[in-house]
Amino acid sequence: MKAALARAYGGPDVISLEEIPAPVAPPGWAEVAVRAAAVTRGDARIRAAAAPPGLSAGLRLAFGLRRPRKPVLGMMFCGTLCAPVAGFAAGARVLGNTGLAMGAHAERLVIAPERLFAVPEGWDDAEAAALLFGALTAADFLIDKARLAPGARVLINGATGEVGCAALQIARFLGAEITARGRAENHDLARDLGAHRVLDYRDGPPRGAWDLVLDIAGTLPWPAARAIVAPGGMLAPVTASLGTMLGAGLRPHRAGGRRISATTTAEGPAAMARVLALCERGALRPVVGARLPFDAIAQAHARADSPHKRGAVVVLM
Ligand SMILES: NC(=O)c1ccc[n+]([C@@H]2O[C@H](COP(=O)([O-])OP(=O)(O)OC[C@H]3O[C@@H](n4cnc5c(N)ncnc54)[C@H](OP(=O)(O)O)[C@@H]3O)[C@@H](O)[C@H]2O)c1
Repeated sequence: MKAALARAYGGPDVISLEEIPAPVAPPGWAEVAVRAAAVTRGDARIRAAAAPPGLSAGLRLAFGLRRPRKPVLGMMFCGTLCAPVAGFAAGARVLGNTGLAMGAHAERLVIAPERLFAVPEGWDDAEAAALLFGALTAADFLIDKARLAPGARVLINGATGEVGCAALQIARFLGAEITARGRAENHDLARDLGAHRVLDYRDGPPRGAWDLVLDIAGTLPWPAARAIVAPGGMLAPVTASLGTMLGAGLRPHRAGGRRISATTTAEGPAAMARVLALCERGALRPVVGARLPFDAIAQAHARADSPHKRGAVVVLM
């Protein structure tokens, strides 16, 4: 099968397309012919061994000290089943998330069936592959960490990337009053997805009071955010340095009943099922900003490196 391999850490040019043996499914596992896979900011971070400040050593411990231990990256995909498994028929269209096993940037992957879900009616392959990275993160921060309630005032900082597009839609579904922060050229998209008000970060620091500041871009750490988190409100840094994460863990409660919550995202079968349930209720549909052929996966990584992309970047096999 054809697969994209990162045999070293580095820029997009370390990615090479190679013919390698297809993985063999253990008994009870699913074999999937991959049709589309997301190339996310997470994939780009692993490829480059570039995490937020203080976290790169941990990334290398998890994924390989000198080079990626598992060279086929990629977690979020859409494909068809090669054989029946766990109630799915052969040929069924499925989406899923391989998690830390990765391996989705390839023509074939194997996966435990509890990590597979039927593709929602009417979605194309790219949309299905684009769902989980942003939606798992947004759902975890907005629902589990912040417990966002109807009428809550939320500032989404970094509103039209992969996580932001999902966060806007989930916050709208939860009935929040949403301010989106991003460049003016993305304000129409932010409004379409649920923003009531928009700010351009080039106009200076945000002014106001929000019950939740969801800092996806990582540009509003506590010293910058403390003035805009309302009493009793929360700062939720999606992109957090080691210092921010330690600070949030050691001292989650700050003056005026304000809180900080920053950890990694739950991404297992239960979290995925919740995201699919939100989709069934019409709460969200992924935004695909770029569709590229699999052969252009290095270009997809270059786009994923950018902090200014709209929605998700997907490669089509
Ligand atoms: N904690 C977790 O478990 C977790 C999970 C998933 C992702 N993440 C992290 O979340 C981050 C975002 O992921 P993503 O895929 O959504 O990224 P992305 O697609 O690159 O989106 C970045 C967003 O940030 C905005 N932005 C760029 N510079 C900004 C600035 N100076 N101030 C405010 N906004 C700015 C962009 O807006 P414009 O395009 O308008 O500039 C864009 O909307 C990544 O760092 C990723 O590693 C964390």
